[in-house]
Amino acid sequence: MSLQLDVRRKTLLKHMGLTLAFLPTVAPDPISDTPMATATPDLHTQLNVAKNEVKSGWVSDLHIDPGQANWIQLQKAVSTCQACGLCQSRRQTVFGMGAEPPSPEQPGVDLMIVGEAPGADEDRLGKPFVGVSGRLMDRMFEAIGMSRERDLYITNILFWRPPGNRTPTLAEQAMCLAFTRRHIELARPKVLVLAGGVAVKAVLDTAEGITRLRGKWTSVRLDDGSEVPAMPTFHPAFLLRTPASKRQSWSDLLAIDKR
Ligand code: URA
Repeated sequence: MSLQLDVRRKTLLKHMGLTLAFLPTVAPDPISDTPMATATPDLHTQLNVAKNEVKSGWVSDLHIDPGQANWIQLQKAVSTCQACGLCQSRRQTVFGMGAEPPSPEQPGVDLMIVGEAPGADEDRLGKPFVGVSGRLMDRMFEAIGMSRERDLYITNILFWRPPGNRTPTLAEQAMCLAFTRRHIELARPKVLVLAGGVAVKAVLDTAEGITRLRGKWTSVRLDDGSEVPAMPTFHPAFLLRTPASKRQSWSDLLAIDKR
């Protein structure tokens, strides 16, 4: 694959902390290059650079534009993506799991849940939310009569486990976001549940914390012009650490059920 990145873009990506296995090192071009600031670009800059890079398809050998991809193409683009170092440490890509993805003739899934990133169990099994926090999440949705197999489609902002389950960096989130947004477009959920601060901030593109946003309906405008009602709620791993917050999550679930 030939990469047509100029020195400036390569330098910017380097400043974002993105390591590309196949990115050739280039000597700085003293004539045409504007000097780069040494500070890390803010989230907005990172998101925009990453969105454009992912859109232009350079992260995958397949040259698939996530904005145009169908379900299978998106899965392939995600699993061959090398935009950040996580592709080197992960065992498996964790794309999503649950109710069948809708075909063009069928309505979308009832409810799509977007979490943060796979952990050790998910990385081992290639499925999202299959560890202890996933079991809590299943029980919570079962309490409002929804099952993973029938009603839910579950995924994460990141498709790979960050080593040691560390919080995904902004650059990693930014690189995945074009995929995630297309994932939501293709799943066409009636309701989107954003589980935890990482998913909320990335999908809603906000700096506002989960504690302020949870329990309040909002909506996500997608690139195809559609709007999806979205409910920010606590991450189940947070509920395991802070059981007293389950009461608030229960009220979020009741609001989802009522919708
Ligand atoms: N936590 C997440 O955010 N996602 C998973 O898939 C598992 C744990």
